Amino acid sequence: MSKNIVILTGAGVSAESGLGTFRDAGGVWTKYDLNDVATPEGFARNPGRVHDFYNARRVNARKARANAAHAALARLEVEHQGQVLIVTQNVDNLHERAGSKAVWHMHGELFRALCAACEARWDAPDQMHLDDECPECRAKATRPDVVWFGEIPYRMDEIYERVLDADLFVSIGTSGSVYPAAGFVEIANGAGAHTMELNLEPSETATAFAESRLGKATEVVPNWVDEVLADTN
Ligand code: OAD
Repeated sequence: MSKNIVILTGAGVSAESGLGTFRDAGGVWTKYDLNDVATPEGFARNPGRVHDFYNARRVNARKARANAAHAALARLEVEHQGQVLIVTQNVDNLHERAGSKAVWHMHGELFRALCAACEARWDAPDQMHLDDECPECRAKATRPDVVWFGEIPYRMDEIYERVLDADLFVSIGTSGSVYPAAGFVEIANGAGAHTMELNLEPSETATAFAESRLGKATEVVPNWVDEVLADTN
């Protein structure tokens, strides 16, 4: 019986909501150079291009609907007799829109803005612009509150604590190609948790998991949630 469940999610959990993944055929990184749109250097070189990229993603994410995988994870949080934490690499808010409350966005949030000058944060307008002012300090240094390559993901100390404490660590819809998230499975293994991957295909870290279920998130996730709830409640 698994009391403490930590779930890592990636783009694959939102794929069937119509939001593109990064590394699959036709994925975001086949159309854009991540150095241009997802690094501090790319933002310094051409902030307008970076805003355009995230403005377009914000529009798509706002139109998207949570799918059966998000809904099943929200149900797990309500019905499981133990802790459920979602650590997501996704910047969309589909877990929250499905009803999940314990969601930590380690790569930031598309719908939040950050002032690079004073670190104030606020709800992002749909379209962010170069000459937007920070509502706190008035600097024209606003950026999406997303974590770029070369920056440190959010809440890492707390995440490591929770992964170390997990009885069950489950990775859903992530290719396992971006660290530190890709390293959580080894930490969970080292701490004695059962580890499980739910993904369309084996990820780059597939061999590290004790168990794997392959298939679409909207199918494998609800089935797995049913099993956990039948087993533990
Ligand atoms: P990737 O695009 O690297 O991987 C998506 C994974 O989801 C792949 O392993 C697919 O096989 C799987 N997948 C696709 N469709 C699926 C479906 N319907 N059901 C289940 N699985 C499916 O995306 P991430 O692993 O999330 O970071 O990428 C990690 C990070 O790299 C992102 O957070 C982003 C990106 O660059 C930053 O921008 C900092």
